[in-house]
Amino acid sequence: MTYRALGSTGARVSEVGFGAWAIGGDAYGKVERGDALRALARAESFGCNLVDTASVYGDSELVIGEFLRGRRDRWVLATKYSGQPQGMTATLENQLRRLRTEAVDLYQIHWAPRGAQEQLYEELYALKRAGKIRWTGVSLYSTADIDYLLSCQRIDVVQVAFSLLDPQPLLGRLRALAAVGAGVLVRSCLKCGFLTGKFAAEAVFHDPHDQRSRWSRREIASTARKAQHFAFVARECGSMTLGAARYPLSFGEVSALLLGTKTEAQAAFNFGEVPGGVLAPEVLRQVQIVQRRLRPSWIGSRLWPRLEHLWRRRP
Ligand SMILES: NC(=O)c1ccc[n+]([C@@H]2O[C@H](COP(=O)([O-])OP(=O)(O)OC[C@H]3O[C@@H](n4cnc5c(N)ncnc54)[C@H](OP(=O)(O)O)[C@@H]3O)[C@@H](O)[C@H]2O)c1
Repeated sequence: MTYRALGSTGARVSEVGFGAWAIGGDAYGKVERGDALRALARAESFGCNLVDTASVYGDSELVIGEFLRGRRDRWVLATKYSGQPQGMTATLENQLRRLRTEAVDLYQIHWAPRGAQEQLYEELYALKRAGKIRWTGVSLYSTADIDYLLSCQRIDVVQVAFSLLDPQPLLGRLRALAAVGAGVLVRSCLKCGFLTGKFAAEAVFHDPHDQRSRWSRREIASTARKAQHFAFVARECGSMTLGAARYPLSFGEVSALLLGTKTEAQAAFNFGEVPGGVLAPEVLRQVQIVQRRLRPSWIGSRLWPRLEHLWRRRP
């Protein structure tokens, strides 16, 4: 395993972290508790020391709480406040019980609050002063989110989607984030499995516990077709999964990649094969050319992500 600095926090995290949405059992289909625990143990055996969850990820926090018993000090534990009506502080107390821990290392707001919600940052900073959390974080969706944080908040770590298919908004702001010492966690680099080469444009997801069953046929077909434009990355790296995971690792400003993992076999690949490699400069140049070609129109780039975001936030 290779380790990287988590911004200015002083922590060193495995460059591949365990994305624990899937093991909650309601994102990518049901997952047996034993399988989830074995996947986490396999990740640890390869040196993974970072896990990212949220209380809205089904049973994920409960599974992690069980797993961390007796090994809490070996892991950097990240979870999120997702806007629960009882408020951030009460939600965190509940999460500490589920996670069976005294404090969380990284506590992230699941979106970037603005306007009337800005007091949430004060509450986050107060939790840090009280020692309930070690570092503050925010999960971001847009360039406007990043610019807002850079202009007026003191956040230790940001979490942003970044993949062959979605280079923005992160690519345009990586240097600015590094300049303020923010740790950068990358999510969704496999585009929910579509950047592994295993799904065709006609793929159908029947399981209601798989969030991809709520994707439209148009979204599935277009994501699978766009992914095919990066077949050359698979040829260069030996597999599409490896190329897609190593794309974000090719940027030194990225602290870690959160790879969504739900089985022991995936853990063996994600933590055993992915770390320690980056894409060659020539491959990165070709990637950029394809990304420019696929760039959506003005309407597509501004309107579609918002509609998609609203769709995904539906309960
Ligand atoms: N707003 C937020 O803060 C936010 C949003 C999303 C995610 N996240 C975080 O980021 C993590 C990762 O994000 P993500 O779930 O969107 O996606 P991802 O890493 O792009 O995709 C994960 C899915 O890809 C498939 N997969 C994983 N490893 C594989 C392998 N080696 N071979 C083939 N397929 C593989 C698995 O699903 P199948 O086997 O079912 O195909 C897995 O659940 C999450 O777990 C969570 O911690 C945060």
